[in-house]
Amino acid sequence: MPVGTPGSPGGSIRPPGLRCSGARLRSRLEEIALLRPARRRILNAFAMASVLEDLPVDFGKLFLPEELTPLFHTPSYGALTPAQRRRYNQLHALYFNEQILFFETALGNTILESLLRQPWPDRLAAGLRQFQAEERQHSAMFRRLNQRCAPELYTGRDFHFVQVPRIWMAVSRWALARPLLFPTFLWLMLVQEERSLFYSRRILRHRESIEPHFVQAHRLHMADEVGHVRWDEEILDTLWQRAHPLSRKVNSKLFAWMLDEFFTTPKRSQLRVVEALAGEFPELREGLPEMRRQVLALSRDDAFRTSLYSREIVPRTFARFDATPEFRALEICGYRPQWEVVR
Ligand SMILES: [Fe+2]
Ligand SMILES: [Fe+2]
Repeated sequence: MPVGTPGSPGGSIRPPGLRCSGARLRSRLEEIALLRPARRRILNAFAMASVLEDLPVDFGKLFLPEELTPLFHTPSYGALTPAQRRRYNQLHALYFNEQILFFETALGNTILESLLRQPWPDRLAAGLRQFQAEERQHSAMFRRLNQRCAPELYTGRDFHFVQVPRIWMAVSRWALARPLLFPTFLWLMLVQEERSLFYSRRILRHRESIEPHFVQAHRLHMADEVGHVRWDEEILDTLWQRAHPLSRKVNSKLFAWMLDEFFTTPKRSQLRVVEALAGEFPELREGLPEMRRQVLALSRDDAFRTSLYSREIVPRTFARFDATPEFRALEICGYRPQWEVVR
């Protein structure tokens, strides 16, 4: 089987252009070595990423750490062969990239456009413009990565597993254009961006076993997301204080509902991932209903829910919940107010 195709076995890849790319990488890294450490780290990542562009994707490797994929937390996973597990992992990673892309285009970009229409101090306005430019770069990066991994799924479109009904898109666009009325979306940005930092760190920790393009994409993403979390908090400070008490109550409840409905419980999109796996491995079709049942059952599995959101994963967001009475009283995935944890 040719190198760099989804079914290829786990051997190393040695594409024809590797020697040339290795020399290019060395010369770029030598130039970068002369720079100051912080700048050097970021440019190293960019140099690596641009060189990786020339290399085929290694389909013999995982795209994500296994514990970050839902099926790993079900009994069905133990019954899969190594090749089936690896392919499930890769399909889930494509879906994960879609999620980032959806979050940053449909949600992030729309809300940043709306925020930029508000009067902000110059420093914060400049920060918001940078925020928006960086999110556009991230979207382009994850779009390109998915297109390289599965051109049959992503040529001419961004989404295969994520399918949001048009009515939802229309309603959310309307709400996102009104950040003063719906600061809940800033909370959502904060929790998701902080969570993406945790995921990136976990991917980097497993970098030896993860496909290099994915490691680099998440390394670059993490470099910017640290600043995004800070901006989210700064904007939230302003918007939440301005909100009427009734609006805070409604927005906090809306947040808890949206988190559960769209960002916690395995539902339609994750079932599509499992179905795609069974589509590639016909021997799994008979067990597909049971796999689907087990994935859906994760919504009631506390250990799984805590693996999505916890004080370790989103410490800043949870500390804000503790300090915000409207959130402290809510049932939110993985969250218990600090005084309950201590008790
Ligand atoms: Fe991003
Ligand atoms: Fe971001």
